[in-house]
Amino acid sequence: MTIVPRDHTHLLGELSREYAQHAPASAALASRAKKVLVDGGSHALRLREPFPPRLVAAQGAWIRDEDGHEILDFWQGHFANLLGHNPACVSSALTSAFQGNYGLLTGFADRLQVETAEILCRQTGADRVRFTTSGALATMYAVLLARAFTGRHRVVKVGGGWHGAQPWGLKGVGFSTDEEVGFQEVDTAGLPHTLTDEVIITRFNDPNMLHDHFRRFGDRTACFIVEPFIGAGGLIPATSEYLQTARELTHRYGAVLIFDEVISGFRFHAGDAGSLFGIQPDLATFGKIIGGGMPVAAVAGRADILRLVGQESGFKVKFSGGTYSAHPASLLAAKTYISYLEAHASEIYPYLSELGQRTRQTVEAAFAEEGLLARCSGCDSDVLPPSSISGLVFPYRDDLRLDSPDVVRNPALVDTVLGEEVLRRALLLEDIHVFHGLGALTTAHTTEDIERLGNACHKVAKRVKASL
Ligand SMILES: Cc1ncc(COP(=O)(O)O)c(C=O)c1O
Repeated sequence: MTIVPRDHTHLLGELSREYAQHAPASAALASRAKKVLVDGGSHALRLREPFPPRLVAAQGAWIRDEDGHEILDFWQGHFANLLGHNPACVSSALTSAFQGNYGLLTGFADRLQVETAEILCRQTGADRVRFTTSGALATMYAVLLARAFTGRHRVVKVGGGWHGAQPWGLKGVGFSTDEEVGFQEVDTAGLPHTLTDEVIITRFNDPNMLHDHFRRFGDRTACFIVEPFIGAGGLIPATSEYLQTARELTHRYGAVLIFDEVISGFRFHAGDAGSLFGIQPDLATFGKIIGGGMPVAAVAGRADILRLVGQESGFKVKFSGGTYSAHPASLLAAKTYISYLEAHASEIYPYLSELGQRTRQTVEAAFAEEGLLARCSGCDSDVLPPSSISGLVFPYRDDLRLDSPDVVRNPALVDTVLGEEVLRRALLLEDIHVFHGLGALTTAHTTEDIERLGNACHKVAKRVKASL
């Protein structure tokens, strides 16, 4: 059956005009911003059309914009928040540190790094940790380490996997509608193709394709980098079979297995997702949640691999730190946050799982009432608890398995414009901010918030239906 993608151009235009009236202060700032900032800002994801809400405050589940709207937020710090915006435990720790002449101090070693690394090792099974300032840097260093450790070049990554803007991460992120291409394109200009040719794209949750790759190129492969729960690729859990295959093949061929846990780390329990699958990767990267709202990321893993960054190996891999790496204010936030998650895990994680299930049911039902097929991702795991982070997609067929970015990012299979653009703009008019159709829950979200989301989705569903 040939599917004719729905055309939402007219509705998108209407929503943009209404939003310009709804948020005039943000609109005015958008015009001003475009005169001095490329596209009006410094992060493309925050600058979606027609213009973003400009924020003045954020607390718990809510954000407030320049126009005075109180907006229910499911983007939650690029999915870094687990306790809502500005959690009291972190803001009070930072306030006292700043008042005690401790916050803006960098350039020295301190106890915070030790204590935070101790928690990370305890909760993830890693031998050693080195901190950095962003997830992109962490994955870049992990790949450098893998290549240096194995003496090999090839880097295998998943189509649709986002590991941040770093040389080996910028291929196969964006989906090309050309059927021959899919996730094979290089996503940035400026990289030598000798480097991008070394990055091999494989399909998420497809163990056969992984077998095939290792059979042919296993002896040249430095590493396989994969998310146990893929984030930007559609918020989809890896299957246990897939990750077990990855572990087995990397072992057999002497390649390094890197779990990118920037999204999944501390999202499902107070530790790495890998351990829930019973798999210890060789290296894991963390970011987002571990920073407690501050720029903290880490590479954690085997001592014999991480020793390549140290004195003993002559600093073979230049992961030696930067001016703001392991900044005390950041590490204070990190330590406070992950200690809190560890101490309150038995209340936090079951609550988030239950709210995740309720959210998915509520949202899918709101669209079903109007005869629109909507499906939430994030829940079909044979291992992970029900997720507190979900995407929302609108498949053209009921029997579609949402198990890979190749499905959820393919506009021939799902209505990506409805999921990514229409919904976001329409819900902003209801003072609700979503991402990838839905987004992340935190302990600050309540069942009343989910009810409100459901009612707003129903309103949007009616409008979408009327526009078709
Ligand atoms: C899985 C994953 N890895 C790495 C990154 C990059 O992290 P950062 O934005 O901190 O550079 C991201 C960011 O979204 C991510 O989702």
